[in-house]
Amino acid sequence: LALLTNAPGAKRYTARVSGAKREFVDGRVRDVVASGDAVIETALGVVFARGGLPGEQVRVSLEPKSGRLRRGRISDVLTPSSARVVPPCRYVARCGGCALMHASEDEQQKLRAGFLRGALLKAGVPEQLSIGMTRGGASLGYRRRARLAFRRGPSALSLGFRRERSHDLVDLDVCVVLTDVLNRALTRLREGLAAHLQGEGELSLAHGRRGAAVVVVNASGTQPPQLYAACEQLVDGSTIEGVALFAGGASKPALFGDPSEWSEALDGSALEGTVGGFSQAYAEINRALIARVVELAQTRDARVLELYAGTGNFTVALAPGALSYTAVEQAPAAVSALRRNLAARKIAAKVVEGDVVHNLAGGPLDVVVLDPPRTGAASVLTALALRKPRRIVYVSCDPATLARDLRELLPRGYTLAHAEAFEMFPHTPDLESIVLLERSR
Ligand SMILES: C[S@@+](CC[C@H](N)C(=O)[O-])C[C@H]1O[C@@H](n2cnc3c(N)ncnc32)[C@H](O)[C@@H]1O
Repeated sequence: LALLTNAPGAKRYTARVSGAKREFVDGRVRDVVASGDAVIETALGVVFARGGLPGEQVRVSLEPKSGRLRRGRISDVLTPSSARVVPPCRYVARCGGCALMHASEDEQQKLRAGFLRGALLKAGVPEQLSIGMTRGGASLGYRRRARLAFRRGPSALSLGFRRERSHDLVDLDVCVVLTDVLNRALTRLREGLAAHLQGEGELSLAHGRRGAAVVVVNASGTQPPQLYAACEQLVDGSTIEGVALFAGGASKPALFGDPSEWSEALDGSALEGTVGGFSQAYAEINRALIARVVELAQTRDARVLELYAGTGNFTVALAPGALSYTAVEQAPAAVSALRRNLAARKIAAKVVEGDVVHNLAGGPLDVVVLDPPRTGAASVLTALALRKPRRIVYVSCDPATLARDLRELLPRGYTLAHAEAFEMFPHTPDLESIVLLERSR
């Protein structure tokens, strides 16, 4: 490193790294934000980089400036935080998946609680509001679904996760946050597909009906006939119970075995999912999430509307005992599974297939439960508030869009009665949260 300036607090260096000239700057981590990036104060202003913890003194290799934000990579931790740990994954420095794995689990929990608290403060929620935190028993081997990428190289097939903010692939043999079921499937997929899978694409893994893995392969370009035979052979019932292969932009997949996802309802019964659709990532935390939704929603003898119902993860626990229950979901495959999940339990509920935006009109309501995708539910709030539900239980996987939506709902006569974070994604900055809004006027 050649020192450019040695002014106190403003150390900057240049060095040649693999032949290229790079600039480095020292700084102090002020904070970690919800993207997982450390906010580093340097003589050049704020620099964002993965892998720092609050209070740490770090050296950052700067990336060429593009736009307003300055970004870099932490090359050295000069004074580590006492909350820093050795990550239990050999790919973590390159893989974009687990941005907080260098922090102790307590520190991770503190950071994630801070992300939710920060968002709620922005929504005008009082600072003294206590935020519950529900954590699972395991922070490794928990994840029951994953989306990997693959690319056929000149000599081999790469299969793994994308690098942070990049299309580059980090080839990996094992992922420590995935369940054993999915890791065994990953090994089998590597062995079974290495010789035949061409081009590039994505590979989704989840759990099937009998506890083995189910796989969806989305592959660009025409694939050789041998790939179809290889997919057939992958299905052995014990490691992989089904494969859906979408090749060359086909809208219908070739099916091998049964590739439908299954998860577990609160009472332990099996809940049918779809092929490559949505399901919650961590079974134990999902059970805790459903139990809390049930407790907060109080649907017994109530007129209930559930939006973004999926395949019925909450519906089958909430609908029994309700006076009336309507569940709205857009994805046709999810709607079919939802109907089957209700019928299998003899639960009477009205299921509406369509966009929530077009299914909001109606008479008075007692309870609304909504679980939108990351983008939130901005388009439904005005119409929802007009139906004056007494309670709104909002399940969110993005504190930022939750806060935006709360800013809209709170002035319409609602108070925030409960907020809780659920550790659905240990080692990542992501969290699931529930808020309960009660009508105050
Ligand atoms: C976060 S998932 C929640 C599913 C379910 N609550 C669960 O826990 O498994 C969101 C669901 O909303 C559905 N969805 C997304 N946008 C929608 C819209 N505009 N109208 C209706 N459903 C929508 C998706 O298909 C998905 O099933």
